[in-house]
Amino acid sequence: MPTINKRELTEVLSSSQKKYKPSKKIISQANVKNYEAVLKEAARNPEKFWEEAAQDLEWFKPWDKVLDASKKPFFKWFTGAKCNLAYNALDRHIGTKTEKNKAIIWEDEAGRTRQYAYLELYQEVNKLVNALRGIGAKKGDRIAIYMPNIPEIAFAMLACAKIGAIHSVVYAGFSAAALADRIKDARAKILFTADGSFRRGKVINLKEIADSAVKSCKTIKKVIVAKNNNEKVKFNKSKDIWYKDFVKGQPTEAKCARMDSEDPAFVLYTSGTTSKPKGVVHAHGGYPVGVLRTIKWVFDLKGDEIFWCTADPGWITGHSYIIYGPLLAGVTTLMYEGVPDMPAPDRMWRIIEKYKVNVLYTAPTLIRAMMKYGAKWPAKHKMPSLRILGSVGEPINPSAWKWYYKYIGKNRCPIMDTWWQTETGMNMITPLPTAPLKPGSAVKPFPGIIADVVDKKGKRAPAGKGGYLIIRNPWPSMIRTIYKNPKRYIKTYWSKVKGAYFTGDVAFRDKDGYFWIQGRTDDVLKIAGHRIGTAEVESSFVSHKSVVEAGVIGVPDPIKGEVIKAFIILKQGINPSDNLKQELKMQVRKTIGPIAVIKDIDFVDKLPKTRSGKIMRRVLKAKELGLPLGDTSSLV
Ligand code: PRX
Repeated sequence: MPTINKRELTEVLSSSQKKYKPSKKIISQANVKNYEAVLKEAARNPEKFWEEAAQDLEWFKPWDKVLDASKKPFFKWFTGAKCNLAYNALDRHIGTKTEKNKAIIWEDEAGRTRQYAYLELYQEVNKLVNALRGIGAKKGDRIAIYMPNIPEIAFAMLACAKIGAIHSVVYAGFSAAALADRIKDARAKILFTADGSFRRGKVINLKEIADSAVKSCKTIKKVIVAKNNNEKVKFNKSKDIWYKDFVKGQPTEAKCARMDSEDPAFVLYTSGTTSKPKGVVHAHGGYPVGVLRTIKWVFDLKGDEIFWCTADPGWITGHSYIIYGPLLAGVTTLMYEGVPDMPAPDRMWRIIEKYKVNVLYTAPTLIRAMMKYGAKWPAKHKMPSLRILGSVGEPINPSAWKWYYKYIGKNRCPIMDTWWQTETGMNMITPLPTAPLKPGSAVKPFPGIIADVVDKKGKRAPAGKGGYLIIRNPWPSMIRTIYKNPKRYIKTYWSKVKGAYFTGDVAFRDKDGYFWIQGRTDDVLKIAGHRIGTAEVESSFVSHKSVVEAGVIGVPDPIKGEVIKAFIILKQGINPSDNLKQELKMQVRKTIGPIAVIKDIDFVDKLPKTRSGKIMRRVLKAKELGLPLGDTSSLV
């Protein structure tokens, strides 16, 4: 992973390292002016901090208690309160001056655009709420959403939340098999999809993929299909309905469900250390408290600004900072459906100039790809509207940070390197715009978050020494459980270091208390910022008729951060060949999706294993990268 090289690490650890201080203008505009004082105050009493943050939302009934830790680690926030996530993101803006603000600006690769004011979005969502209720959808139902980055995905998510149904968004780059697994685990009743999605000038027929998933999912009773590309699609008349027909004639007002603050709002599947993805559950009450507070403080948003997060709504970044965060804050969210270099490598900069984007939130892999095209592309565009920049998904290497700062932010826009996870719901370790920055560091925990770097026993690691990144206190937008698997929730997050949330990441802190995230300790890969489990990829290989066993590792890639290298044992009598390699790559693409990029496959006779038969991926990786093998006492 291109985190920090040796030279950069020496620079990081030397106290003379240059800090990038915020300008007077940034400080004078900032929502939070006195960074250190706010951090200290929140650390004194995090519960008080979060209670105060919760006042930024509207509650149908206030809470009896801010935090109930009696059944920890199943923490409950704002117990006794009644509320609704969609009400806070949408309904409460109606009748205020925000209703005329643009809620969504959408553009696709081909240049088509659509825009919705808050009032229009509210009406679209209400029509869908009424239509869903018309087919019997209700509180607690699970509804799967497999759609591209188009306004209808926002309508669908908000409509589910408004009726109290639990949405499960599955990234539209996942395969039919991956979609089917997620639908089955959640026992979803309804599926939202689209005819197609644009990708590099080509249309991907999403409906076809959805159909192939639905074939094995008996729970799905209705498939609602948004028309995006005029793709020819097959229709199953008993189940399928066009989105337009579904909402036709529906009233533009709808009642909002009164939810308990701890009722699940959504489940989002993410990769872990086994081949089965985990359904991360987030709640109606606490989730928006953390998301609103972070978007307002980290990205320093003002009332009528334009926020562009380049993720996809299928990931947590999209949930929190394309859909819910900007809407909770009443600002405009920009949705772009397409790749950043079509028709030319200046597409992103063109969009920023065209819509006068104020805050850009993107990923290191994308910055590195843009760096490769060169600074001449952003130089073609005027981007004085930009005020704050953001980075997320993987460590940003200092050289990419500096390029982003110089050529995109024009040495004027602070970069918020935000560390967080699907499970945390919100930015956890991040600067605020008034903090002095060090390229490559995510700076410090957000106010109200107590993070630490520790050894196996939970003892704090000294400055400069790597250790496990943990969170010592609960926070409102934290994962509540793993869907239908509370035991796995405890085992994964709460049993590695006593009393603390285990992030699965390694990090170190420098002498100034700045955090430097180094990557995962477990078998989770980060391919272009996308989270994929090694076990998922291995089980995909093993499902091929020629394969006996597979071990996969992540190897560094200059643009994608990591790509996959696989070691495969073939069945007896099967001859290794380039054709077979290609077939196996396609197998992974088919079972997981195009995000699982396999760089290379080696056919081997043996895999390094422990006595209990577990593949030692660490050994595979050390050999591949020419690193010391480390402790091999358990190696057979
Ligand atoms: O390893 C960390 C990395 O991404 C993981 C979480 O992945 P996911 O749940 O898909 O969420 C990604 C977007 C929030 C983390 O455990 N990660 C995320 N942000 C950063 C990061 N690593 C370093 N720096 C970051 N800013």
